[in-house]
Amino acid sequence: MKILVVGGGGREHALVWRLKQSPSEPEVICAPGNAGIAREVPCFDVAATDLESLAELARKQKVDLTVVGPEAPLCAGIVDLFQARGLKIFGPSKAAALLEGDKAFAKEIMSRHSIPTAGHRTFSELNAALIWARETVDYPLVVKAAGLAAGKGVVICRNPEEAEEAIRSMMEDQAFGSAGQRIVIEDFLVGEEASIIALTDGKTILVMESSQDHKRAFDGDEGPNTGGMGAYSPAPVVTEKLQSQIEREVLVPIVHALKHEGRPFSGVLYAGLMMTQKGPRVLEFNVRFGDPECEALMMRLRGDLAQALALCAEGRLDEADLSWSEEPAVTVVVAQEGYPGAVGSGRPIWGLDEVEESDDLRIFHAATRRQGSDWIASGGRVLAVTALGTDLAGARDKAYAAIDRLRFPGSFCRRDIGHRALGR
Ligand code: AMP
Ligand code: GLY
Repeated sequence: MKILVVGGGGREHALVWRLKQSPSEPEVICAPGNAGIAREVPCFDVAATDLESLAELARKQKVDLTVVGPEAPLCAGIVDLFQARGLKIFGPSKAAALLEGDKAFAKEIMSRHSIPTAGHRTFSELNAALIWARETVDYPLVVKAAGLAAGKGVVICRNPEEAEEAIRSMMEDQAFGSAGQRIVIEDFLVGEEASIIALTDGKTILVMESSQDHKRAFDGDEGPNTGGMGAYSPAPVVTEKLQSQIEREVLVPIVHALKHEGRPFSGVLYAGLMMTQKGPRVLEFNVRFGDPECEALMMRLRGDLAQALALCAEGRLDEADLSWSEEPAVTVVVAQEGYPGAVGSGRPIWGLDEVEESDDLRIFHAATRRQGSDWIASGGRVLAVTALGTDLAGARDKAYAAIDRLRFPGSFCRRDIGHRALGR
């Protein structure tokens, strides 16, 4: 089987690495990939959003299965396009991907089907949003751009002034482009977060092990929201009881709801959840693997991932067989200073080739390129250093020990990844 992985971040590097190790021994290629991925498999210089060229690549390369990493091509309809051309692809249709592509739609379908989530209002008019923010007394509240914003379009506001600033930046200054034309304002939820990621073909739901992301940029969960600064799996906050509650109250109903509303879902279903005193509440749905959760999950995954994704794309997920290492995994993201805002480009990373990688320690590349024999950072999140350990502290120490061997001026990472689980 020949597999094309679409994307070029740490998530795709982890997927490529794990797919390649599938017992069915698939041949793997990637587009566009990055310098780290290119060390493992052939990469093709086609952007993840250039759907026509990707379909052409899949045809020319005689690809048997395409696996899509990021949300943008899914929301733009890559699955519909490939299927129309008779190309097998793993992921949701454009109609089903709206679950991530439009937070207002996601909130509405959850309301219609009684899926537990924060109370909300949707606004498409600046003045109406401003008046509401001024008049409400329920602070803090959360202002979200309805469209895709790379995990950055969410602002927690402690008072009306902060809310006004967030609303104006999204609706007036278009900080997230058209993604902020409509906004969702929702109640602030208190609790610990977790990510539950499942494969589904619309009939069978195969729930993966739990994980936890670290959204804020800095230690102690300070600073702005990011795409994610680190992750670990499993997340002890998700007890067995909570896991089955989430399956029953969130995953099964949303898969059913989407089918019922004429948007049958196939692919990765990711529920970002807040474990509140009243039970789990959905913060967001994504229609692809989380990044960096995927890196931690891939480190622990056993079994034939290539076969499982192919079976899922064929509607035969019930035949798939995946299992998990008992050992926990930790991923620490190394980012360039300035992230999640603008970052410099062209900073060199020294020492990468001196770190000895193994099945217990992988440096997944999120944004690197080569310049001669040098490794150069080419984006905000640059590396996702991932380790497996006999316990969480051991995995964490292994990841940080690898990071400490790098010489990467102008970079930063959080030093407290795993603090919630370790503080229990
Ligand atoms: P989202 O992209 O909607 O998951 O939001 C990104 C992050 O913002 C979440 O992972 C939470 O840390 C935070 N967040 C989002 N919605 C809420 C909420 N209703 N209450 C508290 N925190 C939230
Ligand atoms: N790490 C969160 C996300 O991928 O959306």
